[in-house]
This record gives sequence, structure tokens and C-alpha cells, in this order.
Amino acid sequence: MTTTLTCEPLAATVGAEVRGVDARQLAQDDAVAGAVLEALETYGVLVLRGLDLDPHSQVAFGRRLGQIDLEPGHHPVPGIYRVTLDTSKNASADYLRATFAWHMDGCTPLHGEPPQKATILSAKAVALAGGQTEFASTYAAYDALGDEDKARFAAIRVVHSMEYSQRHVVTDPTPEQLERWRQRPSSVHPLVWTHRDGRRSLVIGVSAGRVVGTDPDSGSALLADLLDHATAPGRVYRHEWQVGDTVIWDNTGLVHRATPYPRHSPREMLRTAVFGTEPIQ
Ligand code: OGA
Ligand code: MN
Repeated sequence: MTTTLTCEPLAATVGAEVRGVDARQLAQDDAVAGAVLEALETYGVLVLRGLDLDPHSQVAFGRRLGQIDLEPGHHPVPGIYRVTLDTSKNASADYLRATFAWHMDGCTPLHGEPPQKATILSAKAVALAGGQTEFASTYAAYDALGDEDKARFAAIRVVHSMEYSQRHVVTDPTPEQLERWRQRPSSVHPLVWTHRDGRRSLVIGVSAGRVVGTDPDSGSALLADLLDHATAPGRVYRHEWQVGDTVIWDNTGLVHRATPYPRHSPREMLRTAVFGTEPIQ
């Protein structure tokens, strides 16, 4: 069966708007799900405007892309995680302020599991100001490096931790906060991820804090430089949300962030995470 997904690129190196599919097809049609995965590999981010995907259909769609995360997510539908800064709707909302910094999801797993393959995010309520989501390809960032840097970076390993992520938004942590962050194990990842298909991407973002075997200052300067390089203005797609939009991203080959929005903003996003199958290596 042929599936017609129309993809229109949104930025030079990342993102495409998808037309020609509706919520029912995404939830029920395996061929459509296959075409979505293919487009995701090509474009990194897929935007489906005005899709109005209800939570159960979103979970059904996620299941067609892979195994999904069914941990409780402060939402009645299993497979949905509620993204909001409002602690009355999500008791763990404070952690989500770290989404204001460029990051990959799942770089500090509890038990060494690979980072998630894809994330589906749908807008239930939007911010009055701020609250856009920005994306930049870490494949494109690697490809744009010079040969010397590519060779130099091949052996570099980087320490990722929840503390690095949280310190970015909590500048003066309490001893209790520090203790909680430090309960989560840190992870060491190669700077360059060579994927099974041979493509290479950079593993960078706010969770990356230290280069193994290098003094802390020059290590963090290198990581900051690489993040600036990856997220230079011409390499970013910024999504301006409207209620009913759905965005899907390939979490293995890009960094993303939310632009800041207030703690009491009505903004509410429903997220479904598709587990990864490929370790960072
Ligand atoms: C996330 C995330 C960004 C946003 O849910 O992992 O980074 O714009 N969200 O809410
Ligand atoms: Mn995220």
C-alpha cells in the first residue's frame, strides 16, 4: 500500500510540516506509522498542525512507533505525561523548568537504558507569551564540523548528570535538592554517537557537564561551544504552538528546549515517549 505523507521542510537542517494524514489514520494505520518513522529519520521533527489528537489516539499512535513509556505521568491516560509548570497538575512540575535549556531526553537513565527514540507532544493549552519549542539537529551539527574536529572528538567521553541539568535553572539549590539530584546516577557517553545506520550525531545539551580526563573549565567551554555551534540561529526550527498541534521528534539526533514561560501559565502539553532501542555508542 502506498501512503501519501506530504512533507514540507520548515528550516534548513531540521523540521517538516506533514499534511495529508488525520488523527484516525495515525492511531489505526500501520502503513502511516511506518511512513511517519521514515519521515522522522529524514527531517528530525514533524509538525502536524491542528491535528486534535485525543490522548487515547496519541497513545495508540505511539504504540505503532514502538514500545511506549507507561510510567504514571500525572494524567489519567497511561502513556501520557502531562508537561506543565503548574504543581497542582503535576507534582513534579519543578523539574520541568530544565526544559528551558537545550537538551536531549533520557541522557541520565536510572538503569542504563538507551535514550528514547521519539517523543510525541500535543498542545492542550498554550502560553500567552513564550512557551515555543525549539529544535536543532545534532546530525547536522556533526556534519558541519571540520575533519580535524571530527577526528579530535572521536575519542571524547562526556559525563552527564541530573545535577548539571538542574543547576542551570536552580542556581542556589538547597541541600535537599542536591541530595535528590545526586540520587540519580550520572552517565558517561561518547561525544559522538555512531548510529547503527552509520550516521553520526553529537551527544550534547544541558545534562553534559564535564569531559572525561580534561580540566573542568576547558571541558565545559568545549561543550558550550559545541552547543552554540549546533543551535546557531540558522540551524533552529522554532514551533509556535496552537491548541491541537502535535509535534513528533527524533530524540536521538537533536536537541530541543522550551522558551521560558511563567510558572502559572495555562500551558499544558501531553507527551508520549517511545522507548529507544539503540544505545549511545
Ligand atoms: C519535554 C520537553 C519541551 C516543551 O517534554 O521533554 O522538552 O516545549 N518539552 O514543553
Ligand atoms: Mn525534553
